[in-house]
Amino acid sequence: MEHYKIEGGHPLRGKVTISGAKNAAVAIIPAVILCNSACRLENIPNIEDVAILRNILSSLGAEVDFSDNVFTANPVTIHTNEALSEDMTKLRASYYLLGALLGRYGYAKIAYPGGCAIGERPIDLHIKGLSRLGAVIDFDKANGIITAKAHTLVGAEIYLDKASVGATINIMLAASCAEGTTEIHNAAKEPHVVDVANFLNMCGARIKGAGTDTIRIVGVGRGNLHGCSYAIIPDQIEAGTFMIAAAATGGEVVIKNIIPAHLEAITAKLMEAGVSVDPAIEGNDYILNVASTMRPRPLRIETCTYPGFPTDLQQPMMAFLSTARGESIIIDKIFTERFKHVNELNKMGANMRVLGNGKAEIIGVESLHGADIYATDLRAGAALIIAALMAKGETRVYNLHYTDRGYENLEEKLKALGARIKRVN
Ligand code: EPZ
Repeated sequence: MEHYKIEGGHPLRGKVTISGAKNAAVAIIPAVILCNSACRLENIPNIEDVAILRNILSSLGAEVDFSDNVFTANPVTIHTNEALSEDMTKLRASYYLLGALLGRYGYAKIAYPGGCAIGERPIDLHIKGLSRLGAVIDFDKANGIITAKAHTLVGAEIYLDKASVGATINIMLAASCAEGTTEIHNAAKEPHVVDVANFLNMCGARIKGAGTDTIRIVGVGRGNLHGCSYAIIPDQIEAGTFMIAAAATGGEVVIKNIIPAHLEAITAKLMEAGVSVDPAIEGNDYILNVASTMRPRPLRIETCTYPGFPTDLQQPMMAFLSTARGESIIIDKIFTERFKHVNELNKMGANMRVLGNGKAEIIGVESLHGADIYATDLRAGAALIIAALMAKGETRVYNLHYTDRGYENLEEKLKALGARIKRVN
């Protein structure tokens, strides 16, 4: 089986440039469907999820091209509003096809979304929001198909029971082409939510308040958004992953192409653990210098919606804290079962336990040792690779398709920082 062979114990040193944000790309690419002319998207990461969405847009009839991190798509040639290919079941973000096709055509028929196994992942808040806009939504459970119809989408007041990233974005996609005004209350505030709103506004949408609890969208009507050129933001989670890897290996790494405000929660927690994180400006770029020479102090981390500590970084953080000087507690309030990486880390000599209700404890050990370990989801894969970089000896990390989904050129970037990592078929 394909795996990474990693020789641990080598501190990461040097510079790494962060790629475009996966969770912005997987929303903005479907959003192109809303436009009446071509779009040019820059800083799009070359990752598996983007390749899948490219195939999905092509299967709808859009003219699509993707090279050198530039994604161009002309939605004018789309000839169907039914996205039923198997690709739809390969990623969770395929649910954005619902809001995009509904907003553009008043009709959408999609296969149920897929995505990482990190616990129950309902889409009831998406459905509730789109229904409030006037969509009639049917579920064909036997065939795993969702159909949404709306003669006209009409703006509405929508209150989200949870500040769901996906639901906030999906509702924004449809509402931007509705008649009338929509207000989304208890909206998600993640950087990629703001990026999608900025993209839509470049296309002629009228969205205000993205990044706050209430997003106000004045619909411009179906087919009235035009194409644009847009560069997406850097990936907050990739940046955080490399910050943690630098600290976990006792190295010193300059993280380039970042937006410091997006990294305040991870910066604060690393500094609390004793890691030095120094912001600086290099030319026109913000950079972060991350360095550590000691075993980390133990931490208590509770994940939260932005600007709190992101759930996507709790798994890499658990790898880092596996050798802390004391007991750490992790509470994931977003995905309470996101702990499938714990058993794999314990195979390497870690001493951690899942306590239930989204809580886990980590008793710090002196060091980890190499083992054969298996990724179970995207960020678990990142955690296992960090643990392998920390461990004494050789580790083989399997199920690389998970990290291929969300990290561009991961092996090359780590090698450039001195990691002894090799992809073995
Ligand atoms: C997005 O997932 C991200 N994925 C996830 O990143 C990220 O972990 C998550 O947001 C939280 O930040 C993409 O953007 C493609 P949610 P999403 O809707 O939209 C519950 C990664 O590693 N909920 O904000 O699925 C849900 O169960 C991935 O890049 C409902 O109850 O997350 C969870 O407990 C993993 N009903 C909470 O809300 C709904 O209709 C937050 O989920 C929707 C969500």
